[in-house]
Amino acid sequence: MSDTIPQLSSYDEPSLEAAFATLSAEVRQQAAALANAEAQENFRLHWLGRKQGRLKLISDAWLKAAPAEARKPLGIRFNQLKQQIEETLESGAVAAKAGAETNVQGIDISLPGTARQPGIAHPLLSTMHEVVRVFHQLGYSTNLGPQVESDFYNFEALNFPPNHPARDTQDTLQIANQQARPSRDRLLMRTHTSPVQIRTMIAQGPPVRIVIPGKVHRNDAADATHSPIFHQIEGLCVDTNITFSDLKGTLDHAMKALFGSAVKTRFFPSFFPFTEPSADVQISCIFCGGTGCRKCKHSGWIELLGCGMVDPAVFAAVTAERRKKNPDDDAYDPAKISGFAFGMGVERIAMMLHGVSDIGQFYSGDMRFLEQFA
Ligand code: DAH
Repeated sequence: MSDTIPQLSSYDEPSLEAAFATLSAEVRQQAAALANAEAQENFRLHWLGRKQGRLKLISDAWLKAAPAEARKPLGIRFNQLKQQIEETLESGAVAAKAGAETNVQGIDISLPGTARQPGIAHPLLSTMHEVVRVFHQLGYSTNLGPQVESDFYNFEALNFPPNHPARDTQDTLQIANQQARPSRDRLLMRTHTSPVQIRTMIAQGPPVRIVIPGKVHRNDAADATHSPIFHQIEGLCVDTNITFSDLKGTLDHAMKALFGSAVKTRFFPSFFPFTEPSADVQISCIFCGGTGCRKCKHSGWIELLGCGMVDPAVFAAVTAERRKKNPDDDAYDPAKISGFAFGMGVERIAMMLHGVSDIGQFYSGDMRFLEQFA
């Protein structure tokens, strides 16, 4: 940086204009080269220093000697130059404060901004919300339970006795080093959301109307329709005089609310240890309307969920637990109450609703897939 100031040959307009244009260009040039805070401070001293700063020198050399009529135009230009220097320092300070020792001289408002994309619910989450909402409208509330569960809640109380072959239908992921515990206390990753039925009934008496959305785990190999971690929505209704007709009416309504009022349901005999009788629910194919297509394997029907009337053995297990606190408890006496339960896979429903053919898409974190649900 040169410390000399240009000679002013005359105080007429063109001379003033030229002299200040040279100074202004100098400021601009130096400003562009300010790489860090130290350079910025040198720049400040060079121009604004009290004793040897160039503005001081200019003021001494030019302003003081100026003829009266040149004072005003000279003063205006002097102030403009000073402002230019101060603005340079200010914008430089902003960049330094932001921790960036760069030569960025401020903010270029002509650049495109950074678009902030608001998050959206994951398609599995929004499917869970949709299903849960249908049941909320019927007066159900939501319950949740742990994913690390004990053998008692996941199996025993649901009428899967130890070593019973029904357990083989749910290939269980066990937690390690549980052998020292009694079998009912051994921990595992819950294979279904049904244990929350038991937790709920132990905690509260009838009437019960709950839905239980949640994550479940099985030792299943991943393929286009299976994943070792997936999601279910469970339902439980216990009250006086609950019949299989209530179960059919409720699920028929729910399927119509989810898939459209033209959808039909049918119930097939099935087996679950915790319901008797048990049924698999099929809905008329939402792709072909029931005439038969590839999606429904030309049957016109798609199997969607399991359900049944709560088995008295389940009420008995619940009652045994409740009697540990209150020996006279008979809130779940099957002579007084009855109930139904159901369970469905969230992924399967989401795949149908959105035409997704590979379950792995849901877990891929691929934004091109997820953004389609925005
Ligand atoms: N827990 C069963 C499963 O994961 C699904 C199920 C079937 C739940 C029937 C129920 C039910 O509550 O009544 O395969």
